[in-house]
Amino acid sequence: MRRTLIAGNWKMNGGFSANRSLLSEIKAGLPASLQCDVLVCPPAPYLAQAADLLGTTVVAWGGQDVSVHAQGAFTGEVSAAMLADCGCKYAIVGHSERRAYHGESSEQVAQKAVQLLKAGLIPVVCVGETLEQRESGQTNEVVAGQLNAVLDLLEVSAVAGIVVAYEPVWAIGTGKTATPQMAQDVHHFLRQQISLKSADMAEKVQILYGGSMKPENARELLAMPDIDGGLIGGAALKSQDFLAIVAAS
Ligand code: 13P
Repeated sequence: MRRTLIAGNWKMNGGFSANRSLLSEIKAGLPASLQCDVLVCPPAPYLAQAADLLGTTVVAWGGQDVSVHAQGAFTGEVSAAMLADCGCKYAIVGHSERRAYHGESSEQVAQKAVQLLKAGLIPVVCVGETLEQRESGQTNEVVAGQLNAVLDLLEVSAVAGIVVAYEPVWAIGTGKTATPQMAQDVHHFLRQQISLKSADMAEKVQILYGGSMKPENARELLAMPDIDGGLIGGAALKSQDFLAIVAAS
């Protein structure tokens, strides 16, 4: 049975004081017998703060991106080893905002995932189609291409060491959510793609949904058989909303 993972992607939001409040509210509000895994991904400058505030709790923290390089003269980049040094357990790669605004290719995303795995971190590999791609019937082709770029670089045994996040671009930050069935169909397709590599691994990989997930729609989405959690943007910045999604899992 796959565990549910509820992950918050804070994107470029926060500050020392706001983070302290948000994390202390999340810590205080989590149930004693937590049934799911919980992750927060603050901006890189705040990972050490997250480590300080979350170190002894069940809440994991992670990065929002990582360099394709291991180290060296790459100004502004953050390596997988640095994320590991900050105690990160996970890092997001291939978020559509990075693909769209920073021109990241699926090949680069795959190299980033490999860097993370080498450093002992779990990559959260984001895939998702634009509205135009969905309307022209290309959803499966697009997400398969994005996922397979990563799978192609992995040994079979490493496949269960990744998390996949399906985030339809048209649902991110727009208030439009994929219906549970629309999301389930793509999640099922993604799991089938993984099973072409290994049926056993496909059963183990957590596939998260992201795109305007909120307390009002989380329960229905998370009830779908191939939806194993959420990657939450806006609602992860409000402790009550994030806690309500955790409670819905
Ligand atoms: P929203 O929840 O704000 O739509 O963002 C989703 C997302 O991009 C998470 O990575």
